[in-house]
Amino acid sequence: MAITRALGGALAIFDLAGSRLAGSEPASPARHLVVHEGEPLAQLAATGPHADAALELMSDALGLVVHHARSRELAAVTHEEAMRLTFAELTEHNQRLQRAVARLEELDKLKSNFLATMSHELRTPLTSVIGYAEMMSEGLAGPVTPEQREYLTTILGKADQLLSLITAVLDVASLESGQLAVERCVLSLSELVANEVATYQPQASRRGITIQLESAGETVVYGDRKKIRQVVSSLISNAVKFTPDRGRVGVAVQPGPLEPHAEGTPLTAVQLVVTDSGIGISRDQVDKIFEPFFQVDSSSTRAFGGTGLGLTLAKAYVEAHGGRIWVDTTPGQGSTFTATFPTRVGEPAP
Ligand SMILES: Nc1ncnc2c1ncn2[C@@H]1O[C@H](COP(=O)(O)OP(=O)(O)OP(=O)(O)O)[C@@H](O)[C@H]1O
Ligand SMILES: [Mg+2]
Repeated sequence: MAITRALGGALAIFDLAGSRLAGSEPASPARHLVVHEGEPLAQLAATGPHADAALELMSDALGLVVHHARSRELAAVTHEEAMRLTFAELTEHNQRLQRAVARLEELDKLKSNFLATMSHELRTPLTSVIGYAEMMSEGLAGPVTPEQREYLTTILGKADQLLSLITAVLDVASLESGQLAVERCVLSLSELVANEVATYQPQASRRGITIQLESAGETVVYGDRKKIRQVVSSLISNAVKFTPDRGRVGVAVQPGPLEPHAEGTPLTAVQLVVTDSGIGISRDQVDKIFEPFFQVDSSSTRAFGGTGLGLTLAKAYVEAHGGRIWVDTTPGQGSTFTATFPTRVGEPAP
C-alpha cells in the first residue's frame, strides 16, 4: 500500500466481476477499467488528489505485468513445441537407424553364408585339378617330358595359391559367423617357426634378403598347429614381401610378457617377433591393417600380391589362443610385428 500512501488517497484493484483483489477500498472512488491488447483485465478504483494519475500509473503497471507474463508463456509454449518436434524427429531418426542396423546385420549374415558356400563349391573342383595334376606329374598317365613337368609344376603351384586363397576366405567367413574352433596340442614354437623360415628362405635369397632366426628359452605352447603355422607364415611372408631387395628380416622366438608395453611383468607367453627393414606403415593406416581385405596401397598398380586377409586371420587366430598381436613401425625404416601365445601355465593338461 506504499502507492496509496504516496498518493495521499486510496487505491484498490477489482476483478471484472467486482470482487476486490488488492488495496484498500476507497469511498466513492473514480473507477477505471484496465484493458490489455483489447481484452478487459481488471477494474481499478482510486480516491485522493492524484486519483487519475494513480489509475493511469496502475493501469500501465498492470498492462506491463500481463504483457511480461504473456510473453513468458508464449516463449514456454514455443520452447515446448520445439522440444516436442525435436523429440519426434529423434525418435524417427532412431527408428530409421535401428531398421538400417537390422538390415545390415541381415546382409552381413547373407554375405558370410555366401562366402562359406562359394568357398566350399570352389574348393571341391580345385581339389580334383590338383589331384589329377599330381597323378600326371607322378607319371601315372604315362611318361612326362621335362617341358610337361614344368607346366605341371606351374599348374600345381597356382592351384595351391588359389586353394590357400579360398581357404583364407572360408576362414574369414567362419570367423564372421563366430565358428572359429581351436584344436590344442603341445608344440614347440621355435621348431614350427624354423620350418616356416626354411620355406621362405629360397624366395628371400632370390631377392638378396637375409632371414635371421633366433630362438631362446622355453618355447612350448599349447595350441592349434595349423592355425599357429598360418600366423607365423603370414608374418614372415609380409616381412619378406614388404622389404626391398637386399633388406633384412629377423625372426625371434622367446619367452616374454603377453601384452605390449608390459616389460618387467612375468613372462607368461612365448613371443614371436618378426622384424623387417621394409617400407613400414604410416600412422593413419596402422590401425586398419588387421581389418579384412585392407591393404595400404589398394591401387591397381600395386606392386605386391595378396588379398589383405593374412593379418585379419593372424589376429583372430592369436586371440583365439588367448594371445595378442601388435606392430611397431616407422615408414621407410621397417616394422616389428609381435604375436604372443600364452604358455601352458594354468591350462588343462592335454
Ligand atoms: N611387414 C609389413 N611392412 C609393411 N606393410 C605391411 C607389413 N605387413 C602388412 N603390411 C600392410 O598391411 C596390409 C595387410 O596385410 P595382410 O597380410 O593382411 O594382407 P596382404 O599381405 O596384402 O595379403 P595376404 O596376406 O592376404 O596375402 C598389407 O597389404 C600391407 O599394406
Ligand atoms: Mg599378408
